[in-house]
Amino acid sequence: MDKLRMVGGTPLKGEVVIAGAKNAALPILCACLLTDQPVVLRNVPDLQDVRTMLKLLQEIGVTIHFPDASDRSHLILNAAVIKSSEATYEMVKTMRASILVLGPLLARMHSAKVSLPGGCAIGARPVDQHIKGLKAMGASIKITSGYIQAETKPPNDRLKGASIVTDMITVTGTENLLMAATLASGTTILENAAREPEVGDLAELLVKMGAKISGIGSDRLVIEGVEKLHGAEHTVIPDRIEAGTFLCAVAAAGGEVLVKYCRPDTLDAVIAKLKEAGLQMEVGPDWINASMQTRPKAVSFRTSEYPAFPTDMQAQLMAVNAVAGGSSTITETIFENRFMHVQELNRLGADIAIEGNTAIAQGVEKLSGAIVMATDLRASASLVIAGLAAQGETQVDRIYHLDRGYDRMEHKLTLLGAKIERIK
Ligand code: EPZ
Repeated sequence: MDKLRMVGGTPLKGEVVIAGAKNAALPILCACLLTDQPVVLRNVPDLQDVRTMLKLLQEIGVTIHFPDASDRSHLILNAAVIKSSEATYEMVKTMRASILVLGPLLARMHSAKVSLPGGCAIGARPVDQHIKGLKAMGASIKITSGYIQAETKPPNDRLKGASIVTDMITVTGTENLLMAATLASGTTILENAAREPEVGDLAELLVKMGAKISGIGSDRLVIEGVEKLHGAEHTVIPDRIEAGTFLCAVAAAGGEVLVKYCRPDTLDAVIAKLKEAGLQMEVGPDWINASMQTRPKAVSFRTSEYPAFPTDMQAQLMAVNAVAGGSSTITETIFENRFMHVQELNRLGADIAIEGNTAIAQGVEKLSGAIVMATDLRASASLVIAGLAAQGETQVDRIYHLDRGYDRMEHKLTLLGAKIERIK
C-alpha cells in the first residue's frame, strides 16, 4: 500500500490547477447510458473512482474512446450497445457511486440488477430513497441476495412520471431519480431535491441531451419525460472540494497560493468560514488568490446540505482548527460516523474531543509529525493538511483512500514547495 511521507513547516507558494469535480463526473459518466449516441466529455478528473466507474460502464457495454491518448480528461462514451444491465457486488463494493447506473439502466433498458452498496466507513448510507422514488415511477423492485432487481411494470414498459418527495436531501438519490425521469412517460416532480452544484452540472448535460428539466439549482426539479435522448458535449464543473482542500492547506501551513480553474461561486460557505479563520482571499471569476501570514483563528461550524457548509470539507477545516488560536465546535449533521480523522489528528498532537456528532477542538501551537492512517477519502486530505502544518516528519498510510478523490495531490503540493513524497 502506498504511503505519503512529508516534512511539515514550509509555507506553500505558487499556483494549483483544480481538476473536474469527482461528484459531478461520476453521475455524468452514468448519464451516457441514457442514449445510444456518443457523449463527449471534457475536464473529467483522472481519479481512482472515475477509473472504477469507466470499468463498470465498459462491463455494461459502453465503449470509451480517448481522442488524445495523453489527455485522460477528454473522452467519448458510447452506450449504443448495452451488453448487461448488471453492476456486480465486486464493482459496487469498491465504489458506492456505482448505484448511479440503476436509474439510467432502468430508464433505458427497463430492467437493472445492481448490488446493494454495503455500508462504508463514514456511515450506513442506505439507498432506500433511490428505491422509493423508482417504485413511485412504476418500477417493481425486489432485493434478493444483496442485489436490487428492478423492472418496469408491466415489463418493458416505460417508467411513469411521478411526484416524489424524498425523506431527506440525498445527492445521488436526486441524481438517480433525475436521470430515470428524463425518459419516463409523463412529468416527474422531485421535491426536496439536492441543490449541490454537481446535481446542477448533471442536469445541464441532460438538457443538452434533449431532456426537459426545469428548476435546476432549486430543491424542486420538474422533468417532462421524452422518448429518447441524443448525444451531447459537456465540460465537467471544477471540483469545489479539491479547491476548498487546497484553501485549507494554505490556511493551516501558511503561504500564498493562486487556486486556478475553480468556481468560487460554488464555495460561498467555505470561503466565508476561511475568511473568519483569517485566510486572506482575493476572488476572481475562476480563481482565488489565498494568503495566510498569521496563525489561523478557530472557527466553529456545522455541516449541512448545499449551499451550507459541505460535509466533504469538514475534516479539512478541522485540520485548520487543530492548529488555530482558540477552541471551536464542529458538528457533523449528514453522516453518523465522519469523525475518524479525529483520533489520527490527535496522534499528531491535536486536542480534539468528540461528544456525539460534535467535535470540540482546542487549537495547539504546533502539531508534531507521526505515523497516521487514512480511513476515508476526506479524512486522508485532513491528515495531509495537518502533516504540512506539523513539525517534523509525518507519514500517512493507506492513501489509496486519498487517490479515490484527488488526482496526484502530492504532485500538486510539491509544485507548491511542500516537502512531500509518495512511498510505493
Ligand atoms: C454524495 O454521497 C457524495 N458522493 C458524498 O461525497 C457527499 O458526502 C454526500 O453526497 C453528501 O453531500 C457522490 O456524490 C458520489 P446522500 P451520497 O445520499 O449521495 C442518507 C466524497 O467525499 N440517505 O446525499 O451517498 C445518507 O445516509 C463523498 O466525495 C438515506 O438515508 O450522500 C446520509 O446520511 C463522500 N437514504 C444523507 O442521507 C438514501 O436513500 C445524505 O446522503 C440516501 C441517503
